[in-house]
Amino acid sequence: MKAKIILCVVVPLLAINLARNQNLTTIKNFVSKFFDNATNQHPDIDDNIVDIIERYTGVSETHQVQTEDGYILTFFRIPRQNPKGVIFLQHPIFFDARLWVSQYNDSVAFFFWKEGYDVWLGNTRGNLFCQDHVTLTPSDPKFWNFSFHEMGYYDNHALIGYIYGQTGAKVVYVGYSLGASNGLVYASNRSDEASKTTRLMVVMAPASHIRRGTSAAKYTVAPFLYLQNKLNFLDLRSTILRHDIWYLRVLRSTFALFPCKKCIVYLTSIFSGWTPDVMDPDLIDMSVQRFGSEIPLKILNHFYQTYVSGGHFHLYDYGEEENLEVYGLKKPPLYPLGDIKIPVLIVYGQNDSFVCPDDHEVLYNLLPKKSTAFGKVMIEGFNHADFVSGRSRNEKVYRKMIELLEKN
Ligand SMILES: *[C@@H]1O[C@H](CO)[C@@H](O)[C@H](O)[C@H]1NC(C)=O
Ligand SMILES: *[C@@H]1O[C@H](CO)[C@@H](O)[C@H](O)[C@H]1NC(C)=O
Ligand SMILES: *[C@@H]1O[C@H](CO)[C@@H](O)[C@H](O)[C@H]1NC(C)=O
Ligand SMILES: *[C@@H]1O[C@H](CO)[C@@H](O)[C@H](O)[C@H]1NC(C)=O
Ligand SMILES: *[C@@H]1O[C@H](CO)[C@@H](O)[C@H](O)[C@H]1NC(C)=O
Repeated sequence: MKAKIILCVVVPLLAINLARNQNLTTIKNFVSKFFDNATNQHPDIDDNIVDIIERYTGVSETHQVQTEDGYILTFFRIPRQNPKGVIFLQHPIFFDARLWVSQYNDSVAFFFWKEGYDVWLGNTRGNLFCQDHVTLTPSDPKFWNFSFHEMGYYDNHALIGYIYGQTGAKVVYVGYSLGASNGLVYASNRSDEASKTTRLMVVMAPASHIRRGTSAAKYTVAPFLYLQNKLNFLDLRSTILRHDIWYLRVLRSTFALFPCKKCIVYLTSIFSGWTPDVMDPDLIDMSVQRFGSEIPLKILNHFYQTYVSGGHFHLYDYGEEENLEVYGLKKPPLYPLGDIKIPVLIVYGQNDSFVCPDDHEVLYNLLPKKSTAFGKVMIEGFNHADFVSGRSRNEKVYRKMIELLEKN
């Protein structure tokens, strides 16, 4: 199935683009354009997150917190004396906290730290750092019965509460895609608490109102989930993409031998928005290395439900009968975005095809006027992935955030 999708969709698209853009005459030309020389591996590629943080900053801390429903989350801090503020970075789907230190010396986390902030790197249940639970183990399907709702309601509650307790300062939450969705769950469902713990919620490419994009996910992931919902052939608690799963290991070894950076850039662009020249090729090996965080199918299905509902950000839909039990309603309620009491800053990519500018407009209009005092920021030429792998991302995206923080 997967191999067929690759053969039928990806290969022709690559071939068409090649023919159009590259003016290929010889095979040699093709090979040298596509297969960069295997570079000397940077030590960051194999190092663990603590070693990477210490290499560039000299300081790191590892923390653990237990959620109300028993998950034990391990997460990281790059501490600073007398900081200008506390930044909490929450990762997107298929990644974990390591993503924020995956841009070598120019990593997003180090950028904030060098600018004088106390930086915390969050993790959510199920990922590489969060596979412990007081009673369950990851081999128990019950462990995987969660979506971004639980990440927002339980994980963010535990993490932000802990950081607030340790630092005594309100947190600036920076959530990226899935990290933004679960941030919005926290800010709306626990709106009173958030107003005490959180100074500002930055939602980057927030995957809350997905409807109008033209990403290839529409033609691959969505039909798959359509069939899954019709035929129910998989338990929604089955997981996908564990970081060390065999096919990702094969992908990584193949890539180490034949580092076809353009293939990765094009593949990412097909799903995230067509900006192949913006993506920084120097970061590709690191992205290949870090991609793949274990998640249950239920998360994808929850996103799919919001997509087919017409782009409404609602709680998980269990079907009429079970909804009545869980919510006392036939249909799952919408997240009460109108209840949000903290400022929310939307930062989005002009060329994001997964969550497109029109989708962000929908979110913007649903937020209370007081929350949108910071407005929204469009990043020219960026797709859904460029917030970590685009050229000059720190100057274009994160410098702007710091300027806003220092003005307000
Ligand atoms: C790739 O390797 C060949 C032979 O080792 C060398 O001549 C060429 O300059 C290298 N290309 C790049 C882009 O490093
Ligand atoms: C990262 O290291 C490179 C090469 O050592 C250097 O040219 C560059 O200025 C550094 N970037 C940052 C943000 O420190
Ligand atoms: C999953 O959790 C929900 C509530 O969080 C519960 O209603 C449901 O029965 C659980 N489903 C399974 C299959 O464990
Ligand atoms: C908030 O989350 C709780 C716990 O999952 C849930 O029971 C409740 O329905 C949610 N309320 C809203 C409005 O999202
Ligand atoms: C992004 O979209 C704009 C407007 O549709 C277009 O003009 C621009 O060329 C695109 N940028 C890239 C890098 O593709």
